[in-house]
Amino acid sequence: MQLNGKTALVTGGGRGIGQGIAMALAKAGADVAVADLDIKIAEETTAKVEALGRRSIALQVDVSSSESVNMLIQAVQEYFGQLDIAVNNAGIISIHSVEELSAQEWDRVMAVNAKGTFLCTQAELEVMRPRRYGRIVNVSSIAGKVGFPNLSHYSASKFAVIGFTNAVAKEVASDGVTVNALCPGVVGTGMWRGEDGLAGRWREEGETEQASWERHQKTLLPQGEAQTPEDMGQLVVYLACAEHVTGQAIAVDGGFSL
Ligand code: NAI
Repeated sequence: MQLNGKTALVTGGGRGIGQGIAMALAKAGADVAVADLDIKIAEETTAKVEALGRRSIALQVDVSSSESVNMLIQAVQEYFGQLDIAVNNAGIISIHSVEELSAQEWDRVMAVNAKGTFLCTQAELEVMRPRRYGRIVNVSSIAGKVGFPNLSHYSASKFAVIGFTNAVAKEVASDGVTVNALCPGVVGTGMWRGEDGLAGRWREEGETEQASWERHQKTLLPQGEAQTPEDMGQLVVYLACAEHVTGQAIAVDGGFSL
């Protein structure tokens, strides 16, 4: 699968899954714009992409702001002159029972995960549709296919991403643009690891964060081990190459959601 001559954008590309996707696209031959709320980490990914011999630019964005997203797409257009592949990956999580979940926290998570996906897709389509070519991949989650306790707001935002993806795919199918969703299972990024990650927060009494991480992999995952950012990158490269796959929500979860 070759992406030479293609240009890609990855939001939330400064670390974790986004960085894995940026690297996979670059290895397949694409030039990659790396956008993140944190410009410093976006620059780190850009340096890694450039080390592979591809062009890259780091851009600051807050995907929950339409102004910021529009400026991002304009900057990508100016730098590369085109946009072929867009991966709307930026996302946030928090843990709350539905009883203690505040309206503000609901809005915060929805603003990044659901509204952010809408804003990015809308702006990307504006440059893709006239060229009658585009590949959009929205990063949902297996929490967008099944509900998880204490993650109701997160699950709602990720179900929204899948519904949105499915509808928009049909809307733009005749314009040469495909729109799919990637549903990661469990990946050992900042979302899971560390004191503030899910492994840190879901510890049993006296358990270390590392032991919690290992327990979660063993108990949750049929394969007994987490997926990697590279696994996610492989599916994105496939979707970037595929012409007739659209509207799908594909899990890369080692059988977790079965
Ligand atoms: P992460 O927390 O390691 O990385 C997320 C990146 O998004 C960070 O670089 C952060 O700065 C950026 N970001 C956050 N808010 C932003 C905003 N408003 N605008 C622009 N950038 C923003 O998380 P990870 O694990 O790499 O997650 C990436 C995506 O994958 C997210 O959408 C997440 O919901 C999804 N996912 C992750 C899973 C996992 O096990 N790690 C499982 C299922 C889905």
